[in-house]
Amino acid sequence: MSLFWTDLVNRLTPYVPGKQRTGTDVIKLNTNENPYPPSGHVQAAITNVDSDALRRYPDPHSLKLRQALASYHKTEADQVFVGNGSDEILALAFMAFFTGKAPLQFPQISYSFYPVYCDLLNITSDVIPLKSNFSLSLDDFGGDCGGILFPNPNAPTSLAVSQTNIKKLLKNNPEVVVLVDEAYADFGADSVIGLIDEYPNLVVTRTFSKGRSLAGLRLGAAFANAELIEGLRRVKDSFNSYPVDALAQAAGIASLNDEKYYRDTINNIIATRERTIDRLKAIGYQVLPSTANFIFASPPHQNAGQAFAALDRKNILVRYWNNEQLHQWLRITIGTDDEMDQLIEVLQQLD
Ligand SMILES: Cc1ncc(COP(=O)(O)O)c(C=O)c1O
Repeated sequence: MSLFWTDLVNRLTPYVPGKQRTGTDVIKLNTNENPYPPSGHVQAAITNVDSDALRRYPDPHSLKLRQALASYHKTEADQVFVGNGSDEILALAFMAFFTGKAPLQFPQISYSFYPVYCDLLNITSDVIPLKSNFSLSLDDFGGDCGGILFPNPNAPTSLAVSQTNIKKLLKNNPEVVVLVDEAYADFGADSVIGLIDEYPNLVVTRTFSKGRSLAGLRLGAAFANAELIEGLRRVKDSFNSYPVDALAQAAGIASLNDEKYYRDTINNIIATRERTIDRLKAIGYQVLPSTANFIFASPPHQNAGQAFAALDRKNILVRYWNNEQLHQWLRITIGTDDEMDQLIEVLQQLD
């Protein structure tokens, strides 16, 4: 609390990211980062940005990057928006589409930044409970609301909803924006980017942080029809017209141009994920089917807090929420095979 802060700032509860403990002996499986480095093309592209490009402001519209994304995802450049991480794009989308009077709907168990943006921007919310098996039923969404938002796959549960159900939701709620946060869609869930021509109320956000190993670069994208993209641009240009710097624009294009590396990395992570799920199940864990680069797992003794602490003592960081709904569960990012072996070795020793 501070006398100098506004009432708004005094009552904010900011988002708390997973710990960023560093060191060579730390196994970091708590923020869904990619265990593999970015493509070598990215490093080369950053090195090749000349100092003149740094002296000048970057292209405020990131046109070349948007063209590269449009060609990659088979859309038009005016259907693509880029930002400083998908978090920033979400914040702009909240301002552009969700500040009406009716409450914004999102899942009760979901990305914990959503309620933070609502608080910041004075948006009321209507949180929709998950089913008891943590699945998300889109039939429970819609009706009288100011917008709909959900990650696909959802976080931290790792479960995805089908494209058929998303289409139904879009069709039944044509008057509000439906934002599908596809931060983890690189790892197996069906993307709905291909539906933006058909549904003028659909916005899809993506990130370079997970599947493309570029969390440190801060680059995200949104796909929607040109009218919604223009709405995002109007908010951006009323706030910060150069959110994506010259290095990020060059690096993003280079990443998109190295498809083989991207595919190989994703396939490695998926193989490690399936192997880890099998091994955890073999020692009695319940693990939800995952289409993400993380898994949601509950120990046989259900004491996830104890498992979290045991891992932490060994410098293996995973995510644990000590609240009523999630206290029996851990969210574990998929690392390398070797990192997952070390995690399982610690968990095996717990009774
Ligand atoms: C569901 C979800 N959406 C969006 C983000 C934001 O990603 P970034 O800002 O790195 O693009 C995250 C990050 O963990 C996430 O879990």
